[in-house]
Amino acid sequence: MDIESHRFISFFESEQAAELCQRATVENFTNQTILFEEGEKPDFLYLVLAGRVEFRKKLGTNHFQTLATALPNGYFGELGILDGQPRSAQAIVYGGTVLGKIERHHLMEIVNSTKGSVVVKLFNYTIQRLRESTEAYVKQLVYKERMVLMGEMLNTVIHDLNSPLIGIHLSSSVLKEVHTDTETAQWCDLIQAQAKRISAMTEDLLEFAQGNTILRKQPLNLAQALEIFQELNSVYLREAQVELVIQAEDVVVNADENKLMRVWQNLLNNAVESFNGHGGRVEIKAWEREKQVQIEITDNGPGIPEVIRERLFESFVTYGKGTGTGLGTAIAKSIIDAHGGKISFESYSQHGTTFYISLPLEAKALNSC
Ligand SMILES: Nc1ncnc2c1ncn2[C@@H]1O[C@H](COP(=O)(O)OP(=O)(O)OP(=O)(O)O)[C@@H](O)[C@H]1O
Ligand SMILES: [Mg+2]
Repeated sequence: MDIESHRFISFFESEQAAELCQRATVENFTNQTILFEEGEKPDFLYLVLAGRVEFRKKLGTNHFQTLATALPNGYFGELGILDGQPRSAQAIVYGGTVLGKIERHHLMEIVNSTKGSVVVKLFNYTIQRLRESTEAYVKQLVYKERMVLMGEMLNTVIHDLNSPLIGIHLSSSVLKEVHTDTETAQWCDLIQAQAKRISAMTEDLLEFAQGNTILRKQPLNLAQALEIFQELNSVYLREAQVELVIQAEDVVVNADENKLMRVWQNLLNNAVESFNGHGGRVEIKAWEREKQVQIEITDNGPGIPEVIRERLFESFVTYGKGTGTGLGTAIAKSIIDAHGGKISFESYSQHGTTFYISLPLEAKALNSC
């Protein structure tokens, strides 16, 4: 849209509207540009002409809470302009975005000489936006509070939950030994695989509740670990009609095996879930190059929905699943970060997704280990 047809301009009488358009500058911003930080002095009013801007508060090193979003025909920054108080949140651009900018003193000059009815329109719109963002904020707070409570509860029941899980595991092993036919073996494998998944899921949730990642590093042969991973998932994959192909060099890294397995498991689960029962193919490759250990996990599923791609690694970002909590990729990232590595992805609609993981050579086992 152009600046003349923007909602904010339409609040003003024609003469003042023309003056505002003349004073405004139009700028293009690239993805992830930070327009202003929390606490900065307000200098401009921004009119969104194309794209999207999000307002978020920093909660931790890599954690932000989104408070509100501005879309085309919306505007922001007026509160700071009016009361002169520092910005209350960070503003960040998502995707290619076009904004009209009006300097504070130009705007104040025009607003000061404007009719009361114009001010009322501005006021109404601002109140409406404040109400919307407060509602969204309260909703998020309630949701997070619930997750924290769930984490505290998990902390207390996890020990009790592990005992019956071990019982299930042992009973099915005994059953397999007593009844040596293939069908019993298959069912017992399935029982064990599912018990293991329950255990992994509770650990994921517990880890999230604790909010940190403690590593128990040891020299780990990636090819061997991936073979075990494949075995552990054999029944799950057969049931889901998914082929898992592994190509791994004999690379040894100093890593937390259980945590790394959890990363692979979360990414594999996502790929399998994306096939939606129609079956598919997942390929995991691992090799060493340029002082880095590289791991690639590729599936030929429908691709990650475009609307969540930019925020995939944030907690609670989930899409199209009734039961998803949106923690799988957030946990995977926190584990890779804790190893000093990097995780990213490429995804193409209807063609599939590849996750790229790199672990630094420093994480590699020393010969003496
Ligand atoms: N390989 C993939 N193919 C297609 N979509 C994917 C893939 N991986 C992730 N997604 C999408 O990303 C969303 C977020 O994934 P994430 O693992 O973080 O959470 P979740 O799977 O929804 O929930 P949880 O893992 O906590 O059970 C998924 O809901 C899904 O829509
Ligand atoms: Mg998941």
